[in-house]
Parts: sequence; structure tokens; C-alpha cells
Amino acid sequence: MLWGGRFTKKTDDEVFAFNESLSFDNRLFHQDIDGSVAHVVMLEKQHIITCEEKDAIVKGLTTIADEVDKGILEFSSEYEDVHSFVEAKLIEKIGDAGKKMHTGRSRNDQVALDMKLYVRDEVVAIDDLVYDLLKVIYRIMDENVETYMPGFTHLQKAQPTTIAHHFGAYFEMFKRDRSRLTDIYKRMNYCPLGSGAMAGTTYPLDREYVASMLGFEGATLNSMDSVSDRDYCIELLSALSTIMMHLSRFSEEIIMWNSNEYRFIELDDAYSTGSSIMPQKKNPDIAELVRGKTGRVYGDLMSMLTTMKGIPLAYNKDMQEDKEVTFDAIDTVKDCIHLFTGMIDTMKFRKDIMAKSAMNGFTNATDAADYLVKKGMPFRDAHGVIGRLVLYCIDNDKCIEDCSIEELKGIDEMFESDIYDAISLKTCVEKRLTKGAPGPDTMREILKLHKAYLDKKN
Ligand code: ARG
Repeated sequence: MLWGGRFTKKTDDEVFAFNESLSFDNRLFHQDIDGSVAHVVMLEKQHIITCEEKDAIVKGLTTIADEVDKGILEFSSEYEDVHSFVEAKLIEKIGDAGKKMHTGRSRNDQVALDMKLYVRDEVVAIDDLVYDLLKVIYRIMDENVETYMPGFTHLQKAQPTTIAHHFGAYFEMFKRDRSRLTDIYKRMNYCPLGSGAMAGTTYPLDREYVASMLGFEGATLNSMDSVSDRDYCIELLSALSTIMMHLSRFSEEIIMWNSNEYRFIELDDAYSTGSSIMPQKKNPDIAELVRGKTGRVYGDLMSMLTTMKGIPLAYNKDMQEDKEVTFDAIDTVKDCIHLFTGMIDTMKFRKDIMAKSAMNGFTNATDAADYLVKKGMPFRDAHGVIGRLVLYCIDNDKCIEDCSIEELKGIDEMFESDIYDAISLKTCVEKRLTKGAPGPDTMREILKLHKAYLDKKN
């Protein structure tokens, strides 16, 4: 217990259980140790404690870390939080010198530091996972520059495209996700330690020194903000929500493509599950769970925003609620990205079915209209002519390219025999060469950019 002095009664057991955070903030144990080591090294440099005291504290903290790692020391439930646990164990181990560790510090700036150190590492870890996902997407794109598939709008077949192009859309999304993570890291990378409870301290602390020891860009500039800022958690949860939104859209497509109706892909057995009653089933549970867990991560973001919205400056205990939601979102998103990556890395494309599907549904109707435009017809008129042609085809249950030249001329005299080549699947894709379009020549240029991006990594 860190604060018994002014109390005459023991804390009620239920109050203790309600108030404690060790059961979940023990996750910050190593960050707490690292922050404390930096703090006491600075205290000694500033002649606030002696060299012997600093050495004893650092040695004690190192031993505690080692014993926890080896399972010799456990986070027993009599401690309020990880900070109390470490300090109590230190005093138990080294005696009076241990009582000096907390000089010029409050749990308010301590927890702000621990949480920042933790989130900062997780931002990097998540970025690494998104990078691995991008590598798999790149591989699939590179192998499928000329693998045709239908593109959709309103879930109606729109125009033909390629797997490289479709996956390229996700490449852009996850690339943006990485840049959001980079931004968060940069913005949050200022050290709150030395802010004390809320108004700094009268000890001559060297905050910049501590900040640089812990790899921060510098020290924060307002002690009240330092102990009550959780913007970086909110920013991370928001970036994670966006990653989940992207994964969820991708999952939804994979679920559809994997259905009997589409049969565009075949998920690997290792990434699928069966039914307890229907022997024929092979379900895309991983994709469904990723889609489902998106709601949970959004919930974590909402929870955090709501927790923070009414808190007056500076630290209030409400903020202890930052941890479980942030941890939950981080764990969930890491699992989702990792499993999703494995799932798409192992899935097989049924390229013949995809190409066949790209050919029907009048995906070449725009190109047929463009054909007439190239022959001199204004686009709006051409749109009308092809509209009538499509209607004729629907009535006669055929595709545009199945119509004889006589049938086509019956719709409009301008059609010639070169129409068939102009609306073939290959032409429809190959000729789309505007930047960002699926044409293979354009796509190969984009892939070069992606390769350079991946080679650079950061
Ligand atoms: N367990 C607390 C938290 O997570 C640590 C800070 C406690 N500070 C205080 N003044 N009660 O926020």
C-alpha cells in the first residue's frame, strides 16, 4: 500500500477489488521497470539521490524483472496496480533506498509514461503486421496482372478488371493505414515523465535527459496535459478501427467469392472450418470472425472517446479505463491481421470461373459504346444504342459478342466486324491504361512503385 498514512480504516474489500488495476495493468510491467530505471538514473545525475542508492535501485528493479520473467515472482492480488507492486517489491528487496525511487514522481505521470511506452511499441508491431500483409497482397498482384475478373458497382457486374487491380485497391488502403500509424508514432513521441501529479515538481529534474534515455523526441510541454492526455490511445483506436474496416470489407468479398454462387476462390482447408451437421460444409469462419470483430474494435474506440469526454483536468481515475479497451483492440487487430494474411496467402483462385464471370453480365457494354464513339457517334447516343442492344440480348438470352453482325447492324448501321475484337475481354482490360486502371502495362508500372515502397519498408 502506497498511501495508508492519512487513513484510519482499511479499504473495504469490494472497494479494493473495484479500484484495482493490477489484474490488467501488469501488462505494463516492463515499461514500468524501464521508466523507473530512467527516472532514478536521472535522479542520481541531478544529485537528488546518491550513486549507491541509484545502483541499489537499478539492481533491485533488474532482479524483480528477472524474477517475474522466470515466474519466481507473481503479480499477487494484494497490490493496487503495477506501480504499487514494483515499488513494494523493491522496498522488500533493497530496503530504505527503495523508498527513494518515487522522489519527484507521481503515479499519474508514471502511468502516462508506461502507457505511452507500451502503445509506441505496439504501433510498430502492428505496422510490421500490416507490412507483412502488404507483401502478400503484392505477391498476389504480381502473379495476376492478367488474371481477369469482373469488377462490380452496386454488386452488379460493371466492367472487367484483374485480380491485380482488385487487390491493388486494398494495397492502397493498407498503405494509408501504415502512414496513419507512422503519424501517430511521431505525434505521441514526447515524454510525460517529470510532470508529477499535475504541476511538475520542485526537484531539479532533467526531463529532456529522461526523454532521450527512453527514445522520445523530447519532453511534453504542459504537465497538466501530460498526465491527462490519452489522445494517442484514441488515435490508435481510430487507426485500428480503420484497419478493421478495411479487413472487414476484404473479408466480406472473400466470403462472397468463396460461396457456391461465386466460386471465385477456394480457401485452404487449414483456414476453414466444418459444420457439425452438414458434412459438405467448408465455412470461411476466419473471414467472418474478422468481419465480426470489427464491431468490437469500433466499440473500444467509442468506449475510450466516451470515457474521456467529460473529464476535467487533470488526472482522474476514469482514465484507468483506457487500458482494457486499448489492450483489447491491439490484441484483436494483431490476431486479425495475422490470420487474415495467412488466409489470403494460402487461398487459391479459380481463374477460369473468374474469367468466365468477367465475360458475362455485359461487362463490355461500356467498351461497345466507346467503339461507336471512336466511329464518330457522340457518347450519349452511343450509350442509348448499346442500351437497346443490351435489351435485345437480354430478350434473346445472349451476350453482345454472341450477336451476328446482321443482328448488330439491325440495332445500328455503324457496327462493323471489328466490333468483336474491340469488346473482347482481353481488349477491355488491356486498353484501360489511364493511371490507376487495370491495363497490364499500367499495372506493371504501379507494381514497380509498390516494390520500391516495400523495399524501403519505413
Ligand atoms: N492505476 C492507475 C491508472 O491506471 C494509476 C494511476 C493512479 N493514480 C492515482 N492518483 N490514483 O490510471
